[in-house]
Amino acid sequence: MAIRRTLLIALLVFALAGWAGAASKRRAAESCGGCHAAHRTDQGSCAACHRGDPAALRKEIAHQRLLSGQAAEHARADAPAVAEGRRLVERLACRRCHVVGGSGNRLATDLDRVAWKREQSELARSLAVPVENMPRFGLDDRQAEPVIAFLLQNADTESADATYRVRFSGASAKGDSTFEKHCGGCHRALVTDGPLGRGSAGPNLSGLFSAFYPATAPGSRHWTAETLGKWLENPRSVRPRAAMRPVRLEAGELERLVEEMQASAPKSTTPRKEAAGR
Ligand code: HEC
Ligand code: HEC
Ligand code: HEC
Ligand code: HEC
Repeated sequence: MAIRRTLLIALLVFALAGWAGAASKRRAAESCGGCHAAHRTDQGSCAACHRGDPAALRKEIAHQRLLSGQAAEHARADAPAVAEGRRLVERLACRRCHVVGGSGNRLATDLDRVAWKREQSELARSLAVPVENMPRFGLDDRQAEPVIAFLLQNADTESADATYRVRFSGASAKGDSTFEKHCGGCHRALVTDGPLGRGSAGPNLSGLFSAFYPATAPGSRHWTAETLGKWLENPRSVRPRAAMRPVRLEAGELERLVEEMQASAPKSTTPRKEAAGR
C-alpha cells in the first residue's frame, strides 16, 4: 500500500513539473525566451514579424534569420514602412528587371521567389552593393529597410528555389549589336539574352518598351519605337536640357536596335492579386 502511495505521489509530481515546464516554454515563446519586453502583442507573434525561433532559449538559435527594424513591418499590410517600400520600388522601377508582387519583367531574379529565403543582411547587401547589371540606387539603411519590408510582404514563403541568373551571351553575339555599337558606352540594358552595354552616364534602359520602365517619354508616356527614333534624332527637341547628344543611325539600325531591346518585353507578368494575409 505504502509503495503504491509513493508511486502515486511521484507521478503527480512528474505531471505537475511537466505542466509547469510546458507553461514556462509557452511563456518563453510568447516573449522570445523572456529576453525581450513584449511589444505589439495585439498585432501578432514575435516570430510572425521578426522570424527567428521563439521556442529557443539561446540567442544564437532564437535569432536565426531574424528581421530587425522596419523590415519587421512586412507582416502588416497597412504598415507605413511597407507603403514607403512600395513607393521606392515603383519610383526606382525595380520591375523593369525583376518580378515583385507578381508583376514585372523577368530579366533578372523573380524576387518573390527568393526574398523570404534570404537573410536580411543579404538583401541589404544586394541593394547596397549591387551586381554589375543592377543599378546602384544609393539607398541608405533608412530606405533599404522599407524596400526589404515590401519585398518580404510580397515574398512567396514556400516557393522552391528558382533563382534565375542573368545569362551571359558570348562576345560574338554582342559583336554585331546595334545597342553595343551606339549606346553601350553610356547605357546598359538587360535583354533576355543577357546584358548589353557597360556605360553609366545615362539611365539603365532595361525593359525600355515595357510598362515597367518609367513613363519618361514625351507626355509622360511609355517609350515606343517612334518616340525613341525622335529622341535619338535630337534629345533636346524632346527634353530641352537633355544631357544626351543626337545619335546618327544608318538605314535599318533603328529597327535592329528596337528589336534587340524589345527582347525584354514579352516575358513579363501581369499583376496578380495582393498576397493573401501577408
Ligand atoms: C537569450 C536571450 C535572447 C533570446 C531568446 C532572444 N533574444 Fe533578441 N536579443 C537579445 C540580445 C542580448 C540582443 C541585443 C543585440 C545582440 O546581442 O544581438 C537582442 C537583439 C534583438 C533584436 C535587435 C536586433 C538588431 O539588429 O537591432 C531583435 C529585433 C530581437 N532581438 C528579436 C528577438 C526575437 C523576435 C526573438 C525570438 C524569436 C529573440 N530576439 C530571442 C537576446 C535574446
Ligand atoms: C506586428 C509586427 C511585430 C510584432 C508582433 C513584434 N514586433 Fe518587435 N518590432 C517590430 C518593428 C516594426 C520594430 C521596429 C521598431 C518599432 O517600430 O517599434 C520592432 C522592434 C523590436 C525590437 C527592437 C530592436 C529593433 O529591431 O528595432 C525588439 C528587441 C523586438 N522588436 C522584439 C520583439 C519581440 C520579442 C516580440 C514578441 C513579443 C516582437 N518584437 C513582436 C515589429 C513587431
Ligand atoms: C537593370 C536591371 C535591374 C534593376 C532595375 C534592379 N535590379 Fe536587382 N538585380 C539585377 C540583377 C542582374 C541581379 C543579380 C541576380 C540575377 O542575375 O538575376 C539582381 C539582384 C537583386 C537582388 C538579389 C537577389 C538574390 O537572389 O538574392 C535583390 C534583393 C535585388 N536585385 C533587388 C532589387 C530592387 C529592390 C530593385 C529596385 C530598387 C532592383 N533590384 C532593381 C538587376 C536589376
Ligand atoms: C555619350 C553618351 C550617350 C550615348 C552614346 C547614348 N546616350 Fe542615351 N542618354 C545619355 C544621357 C546622359 C541620358 C540622360 C538624358 C537627360 O539628361 O535626361 C540619356 C538618356 C536616354 C534616354 C531617356 C531615358 C529616360 O528614361 O529618361 C533614352 C531612351 C536613351 N538615352 C536612349 C539611347 C539609345 C537607344 C542610345 C543608342 C542609340 C543612346 N541613348 C546613346 C547618354 C548617352
